[in-house]
Amino acid sequence: MCGIVGYTGTLQAAPILLDGLRRLEYRGYDSAGVAVHDGERIERVKAGGTVAGLAEKTANGAALHGVCGIAHTRWATHGAPTDTNAHPHLSEHGLFAVVHNGIIENYALLRAELQGEGYVFRSETDTEVVAHLLEKYYDGDFKRTVMRTAARLEGSYVLGVLCSEAPGRLFCVKEAGPLLLGLGVGENYFASDVTALVSHTKNVIYMDDGELAELTPEKITVFDRTGREITKTVSHVVWDIEAAEKGGYEHFMLKEIMEQPRAVKSTVDPRIRDGEIVFEDFDPSSEELAGINRLVITACGSAYHAGVVAKYVIEALCRVSVEVQLASELRYSDPIIDGHTLLIVVSQSGETADTIAAMRECMARGARSLAIVNVVGSTIARLADHVIYTHAGPEIAVATTKGYTTQLAALYLFAVWYAKRLGRIDSARYNELVEGIRALPGMVQRAIDLNVHVRYLAERWHGHKSLFFIGRNIDYAAAMEGSLKLKEISYIHSEAYAAGELKHGTIALIDEQRLVVALCCQEQLFEKMVSNIQEVKARGAKVLGVSLEGDRRIFAEADDVLFVPRGERLFAALPELIPLQLFAYYIARENGCAIDKPRNLAKSVTVE
Ligand code: M6R
Repeated sequence: MCGIVGYTGTLQAAPILLDGLRRLEYRGYDSAGVAVHDGERIERVKAGGTVAGLAEKTANGAALHGVCGIAHTRWATHGAPTDTNAHPHLSEHGLFAVVHNGIIENYALLRAELQGEGYVFRSETDTEVVAHLLEKYYDGDFKRTVMRTAARLEGSYVLGVLCSEAPGRLFCVKEAGPLLLGLGVGENYFASDVTALVSHTKNVIYMDDGELAELTPEKITVFDRTGREITKTVSHVVWDIEAAEKGGYEHFMLKEIMEQPRAVKSTVDPRIRDGEIVFEDFDPSSEELAGINRLVITACGSAYHAGVVAKYVIEALCRVSVEVQLASELRYSDPIIDGHTLLIVVSQSGETADTIAAMRECMARGARSLAIVNVVGSTIARLADHVIYTHAGPEIAVATTKGYTTQLAALYLFAVWYAKRLGRIDSARYNELVEGIRALPGMVQRAIDLNVHVRYLAERWHGHKSLFFIGRNIDYAAAMEGSLKLKEISYIHSEAYAAGELKHGTIALIDEQRLVVALCCQEQLFEKMVSNIQEVKARGAKVLGVSLEGDRRIFAEADDVLFVPRGERLFAALPELIPLQLFAYYIARENGCAIDKPRNLAKSVTVE
């Protein structure tokens, strides 16, 4: 869960690498470093803290000279986020510099072995063993040295390597983590994420596990685990650099919230043709579908919450039982999965380690898999039997917004499509549902417009130390995501609770200090929610109601209200999240939090 970038060409490398790090900083932001080959030897600078600190230390890269280098932004796993533990790490005599994303599981053994041979360790990281192994195995052949080193490593490792005896040449290695290569003219790149490359080139190669690549300014060569040269497909990135910049917004999160009408449209529009749902990238045969008797959804964090919403929707429309499992639990649960299971894997990044592991476990037991993923060419997308891309565009803020709502849109499309294939809905209902999905981008815009007052509510409520989000049915699933949004960016304690469950214990926590956000967008349960609101008010809590546009009944119950436009009941969670995202954003802003990069978090959790 770090970001790495490498460059070799004819321009000064350090400013290019720093620019790449700024774009990768969402992957980790506790320390950073850069190493450049100056033609004779490797020069390296590291800094605890953000990339801005590293830029200051190097005069924005101008202090480092050389046309080939590697850089890293870190989210600490082994050792505190200090200058010393920051990457790149150098080998004993400065022959090699290495950057690493992942975890070397056998590092303690390797460290003891190397220390026994006299190697001196300067950091507490697992990565430093790689630097020393490189020097230990070096016999003048850069490629062979990298391969022998990689063969000793266990765990997840994406490496970038610079050798002082090989100016202009870089190696990178991929094992269980994201890595892609960027092809330029007279220059080449590697990076953890396409956002670091897209201002330089749109031609990329997605690396697979077990592969390594050699980069020179003129050429990229990819090898398999045995060192045999292999041919890879060059892909073309379709979006522009503006998509990965703030575009005048104070934070990426606010920009991404505001982008949601367009993002949801990009998920939905290409899949509805002449009133029919059509997946260009998911077209299972009738035999394959007939063999499915069970649906399991797995994911982490917000993507898991999207899965919980989907369970309600799929079960309501398809009358098929759906299990939703946290990937971190599923992977170790000895799951009851066989060839009749369709596993739906939801992930924005497509690189979440637990999700990948759960997916591998289920596929090994015979499950067919459908991935709902944003990042094209990501590990999950490539592992899956079928993929529905969400097409949300790059999501930079650590707290997901458009990533989540586009996952919902894709899951709604799947639910309606599947209900029709199973013959569980008639054509009138199908048409109504398709229209309901088609209306979603407009409803998202309406939800933004309806809630301009949310920033003033945040001024009023930002001092609360603990919140409950309550709801029933789909509103409960939406409450989970609303609560996570608030806690991850504002650091305010909050919990999502099924409204009817409060009285079984948790209501003991309700007092005058508590703000309760009551989601009331499932009309059929409105009266039940009113009872729950009255229960918490009787104990002194303040209530922020979230209600359907035009429903005046809520004014009698809540202290303040957020509005959700009316549409298909089953799809309410999607527009409902918009005011909740805005509420979390403005509360965090009032409290002066680091909204795009909350403490202790990173965008893509590529370690267990
Ligand atoms: O990339 P993924 O969708 O697999 O990520 C899963 C979670 O790590 C992610 O949703 C996380 O919970 C977000 N920070 C929530 O905003």
